[in-house]
Amino acid sequence: MENKLKILVVDDEVNLLKTLSDILRKNGYGVSVARNARAALETLGKDRFDIALIDVRMPRVDGVELLERIKEKHQGLEVIVMTAYGTIETAIRSTKLGAYAYMLKPLDIDEMLLNIQKIIKLKSLRKEAQFLQRQLMEEHGDKNIIGDSQSIRQVVKTIKKVSTSDSTVLTIGESGTGKEMVSDAIHYSSRRYAKPYVKINCAAFPENLLESELFGYEKGAFTGADKQKIGKFEVADGGTLFLDEIGDMPLAMQAKLLRVLEKGEFERLGGNKVIKVDVRFVAATNQNLELMLKEKRFRIDLFYRLNTVIINIPSLLERKEDIPLLIDHFIEKFSTEMNKRASRVTDAAMELIMLYPWPGNVRELANAIERATIFCEDSVIKPADLPPNVREGHVELPTVGTSGERTLEALEKRYITDMLRLTRGNKNEAARILGIHRETLYKKIKKFNIQINNNN
Ligand SMILES: Nc1ncnc2c1ncn2[C@@H]1O[C@H](COP(=O)(O)OP(=O)(O)OP(=O)(O)O)[C@@H](O)[C@H]1O
Ligand SMILES: [Mg+2]
Repeated sequence: MENKLKILVVDDEVNLLKTLSDILRKNGYGVSVARNARAALETLGKDRFDIALIDVRMPRVDGVELLERIKEKHQGLEVIVMTAYGTIETAIRSTKLGAYAYMLKPLDIDEMLLNIQKIIKLKSLRKEAQFLQRQLMEEHGDKNIIGDSQSIRQVVKTIKKVSTSDSTVLTIGESGTGKEMVSDAIHYSSRRYAKPYVKINCAAFPENLLESELFGYEKGAFTGADKQKIGKFEVADGGTLFLDEIGDMPLAMQAKLLRVLEKGEFERLGGNKVIKVDVRFVAATNQNLELMLKEKRFRIDLFYRLNTVIINIPSLLERKEDIPLLIDHFIEKFSTEMNKRASRVTDAAMELIMLYPWPGNVRELANAIERATIFCEDSVIKPADLPPNVREGHVELPTVGTSGERTLEALEKRYITDMLRLTRGNKNEAARILGIHRETLYKKIKKFNIQINNNN
């Protein structure tokens, strides 16, 4: 009977000790007794107990003081306090000190047994939660962030540090460098892991929609608001809100966000009740915020509020030493998914991979390895299995047509259209590869009336 639940009963009344321990034993529990606090602490030091039943009135060290010492030293132990002289003060003090329950003597045995049952249930729930967190950590924790470069090690170190706090974190890195992964790791290794984890892409909504997504609205706030909507700030209460692409947030919204970050309060659109929330914010951007600050497209006060902790993820080009590890990781991952094993990358293929600049960073590398795993024969990834642009050693650029497109404008339109297709409609990435500002790209898209199709 190794995993019998173990209960320690502490009371200076010998009769009660005997009656109570008989009943508990009959109910299948393992029982030890102690007649004073000192003996109790001694017994607790020798063996592992699950529950302690403690009398308040005892000579020398009383039950409340004993409770205090137990909570310092034996965290997993749940305590039920018993007393013949019920005062509200002792009851409140015991609860504050972490007692599970407070019971009056003469004891109602059924109630005592019920309390014990409840503690057992509580303990098993706690164990389940721990198991759940371990599983979530395995799936999303910092261990999944592959890389041995100085910079990735620094990233992982910072994640570990900030996980124990509620501080706001801003992650900066090019597209595909793993910013969302970082946010995931922070949330799932924080104490908020079992609470809501909400993500919003600030670039995906026009301004007024972004506002109602974040703040929610009351019925009748505007035309079309036919029922109340709870915004992301509220949905994320108690948990973490990931503000992706925060650099794309319109200026007016930035001001409104700042208030929420500073005070943790806001009103729904069309409502006047102040709502308080407890949210941990993690933000990410692939924009050059310093440039945006200079150009007054990002609020300096919001920047200061966000920059308590900044995690910079360098592009893959700047940490090529991580590539071999990442390849192994993705080969393993896709092999399991596809039930097909690639075990080796030839030297020639490796050379091409190391020469290629990977503008789409880890995401592009992952896609290339996925493709290569599909194409490869005999479990060996050869140059021919790599995407053509990697194979040919250049960033894939659209070819210029020959028929009738002789004006510079026509060429420009064609070039931009192709780039947008290449980046699957990702304007940030297209602008970056084209070497022009996002806004400039927007203007040109409008000017040339370019249709963006995200699916090709
Ligand atoms: N260090 C890494 N180790 C393992 N996988 C990684 C790493 N970095 C990125 N990835 C993988 O690359 C892909 C892109 O990562 P993620 O979505 O986090 O990037 P991102 O920076 O948010 O990109 P974007 O700016 O385009 O949204 C994901 O599939 C992620 O799992
Ligand atoms: Mg992302």
